Formats: sequence, structure tokens, C-alpha cells
Amino acid sequence: MQTLTIKKNPVILGIESSCDETAAAVIRGRTLLSDEIISSAEVQAKFGGVVPEIASRAHTDAIDEVVARALSTAGVKKEEIDAVAVTYGAGLLGALLVGLSFAKGFSYGLNIPLIGVNHIRGHLAAAYLESETLKPPFITLLASGGHTAVIYTKSALEFEVLGGTLDDAVGEAFDKVARVLSLPYPGGPHIELLAREGQKTISLPKMLKGEGGYNFSYSGLKTAVINYCHGMQQRGETVNRADVAASFQSAALDILVQKTVEGAIEKGVDTVTAGGGVIANGYLREQLGNACLKAGLKLVLPLKKHCTDNAAMIAAEGLVQYTAGNFAPLSLNAKASIPLR
Ligand code: KG4
Ligand code: ZN
Repeated sequence: MQTLTIKKNPVILGIESSCDETAAAVIRGRTLLSDEIISSAEVQAKFGGVVPEIASRAHTDAIDEVVARALSTAGVKKEEIDAVAVTYGAGLLGALLVGLSFAKGFSYGLNIPLIGVNHIRGHLAAAYLESETLKPPFITLLASGGHTAVIYTKSALEFEVLGGTLDDAVGEAFDKVARVLSLPYPGGPHIELLAREGQKTISLPKMLKGEGGYNFSYSGLKTAVINYCHGMQQRGETVNRADVAASFQSAALDILVQKTVEGAIEKGVDTVTAGGGVIANGYLREQLGNACLKAGLKLVLPLKKHCTDNAAMIAAEGLVQYTAGNFAPLSLNAKASIPLR
């Protein structure tokens, strides 16, 4: 590759295929030009979760079309792309390899840099798409199907995890409780809808571990919901599913709001951001909004569609890595798990 001039507002193609969404997006600087997604979630829902082999095949079917759509919606020719950013982990290996191999072909064919993106860093970077001026330091609440953490984002490339889950991730807890309530996969959005019809009448345990710390434990909460439902059934009483959903949602999310604001105050920052599928939850967005307002903090939330898996966030993190000159060799391999740094 020739010597590369780092542009201020590069055109970046982002590709995501770590789980059940095949996605491609194009950005110019922080401006989103296109954002396409083909999901196999409906097929996966029949199995009650993501079947890796089905996910890989669905990505293979969809990748060509999703990228073509992203380029045409953006009105960008292949030759105008400055770099291609792709999720290389964490995720399902067979699924990741589809996007990664496609991106390598693109990078090689066009002689443009390849950027390997850590999926979680993508979730954290989604907020950049909402504000031209957003810049660290800030506190980020990460809440997805695999992660729950309060993170101090010191700079675009430096993170300090203040605390996180000691067992299940919050999204995982939503999915497991949804199963108990006979709701489809993924459970989060279904619990949110059902909770709107219920009241927080059931008392459930707090999920905080350690005095004044930031560590969460969700397995106890999930067990408490299961025990409550079984107990009611054994006594021949009807479970009010909407009340269970509302009580669980509040127990699972209120603590995240509280700890995020505490993190911002402790670190002396004036801005809060968030990322991950659970941040699409309307109740959580509202509670975070209220709490930040009360504490005098600025809140920058990604759009709901940029909280669940998407390629716009991968392109956004691609921009961070591009600006830092962090490019990947064509030998980059997919990884099932990678740390945040
Ligand atoms: O970030 P994401 O799309 O995938 C991972 O990287 O894990 O997160 C998926 C998780 C699932 O557990 C799903 O149930 C949850 O996010 N989720 C929600 C909502 N939408 C998605 N949880 C609560 N309320 C929602 N509206
Ligand atoms: Zn994700």
C-alpha cells in the first residue's frame, strides 16, 4: 500500500456480522451516509436463540447485497472509500469470518486500509454519530447481551472499567426472564412492551455487589423472578406477567442509571454516553435522561437503531482507529472473545 495521508473526514465503509445481523454502513467523518441491515433474527427466534451455523449461512447470503445497498444509498462509488472497518470480534467465529473475509477482499481489491473493530468498542463509539462535538472524557454505560459495565472513557482510545457484571449481562437477564414469561427471543423489547401495562408491585433483590462499588450481579435477580413465578404457580395463583416485567425492568435498570451518574460525579466529567442493545430500552433512556438532567450532566444517547447491532457504530469506531492510524494486516483473524482494550 502507498503511504497513506490521514484525512480529516474520510469515507469509511463499516461491516458487521458478529451475531445475527448482517450490516453495512458508510460514513463521511461523523456524518452517516447510509445504514443497511439484513437480519436473520426472525429465523433465529424459531430456535429460541442464535444458531451459529444458521447465522453464518444467513450472513453469506446477505453480505453482498447489504454492502451494495449501503454504497448505493450513500451515493458513494467504491473508489471513494478511504478505509473499510469490520468487526473481527467478539462474536460467533463462523459469522465473523463472513464479514471479515468480505472486508479483506474489499481492502485488497481497492488497495485501501483494513481496520479491525472490536464489537464492544463499536457499541461505545455509536454515540459519536449523534454529536460532532462529543469528545472524551466522559462516562459510558455499556449494556448489551454480553456486557454490562460503567466505563470511564478517558480518551478515544483509553478506557477504564469502573465496574461491571459479576455474572450474567443485563441483556442476558432480559432474555432469560423473557423465556420464563413465555416471550419470544430476543426478550428485551418484549419485556419493555409488556412492562408498560404493569406496575412495579413485586419486590426483587438489589443487584449491587460490594459497598459503594460499581459491580452488578444479575443471576440472583433472574433466580428471584423464576422463584416468584414458580411459587405463585404452586399456590395456584395467577402470575401477573406485566407486573413481573415492570418490576424486573425497574430492578435491572434503575441501578445502572444510579451507578452511571455516580461514575460521572466521581470522575468529575460533565458528559454521559451509552451503548449496547439494552440502551434501546425506552424506560432506561427516560430514567437516564431524568437522572442526568437532575445531576446537571449532558447525555448523548445513540439512536435506538444504533444501540442494537449495526454497522454505523462499526464505521464510527473505524473512524477513531483510522484517525489514530491503527490499521490491520490482511492476516487479521476472527476472535470469539477480545478484551475492551
Ligand atoms: O448489543 P446487542 O444488540 O448485541 C450484543 O452485542 O449483545 O444486545 C442484544 C441484547 C439482547 O439481550 C436484547 O434482549 C437486549 O439487547 N435488548 C433490549 C432491548 N432491545 C434489545 N433489552 C431491553 N430493552 C430493549 N428494548
Ligand atoms: Zn452488540
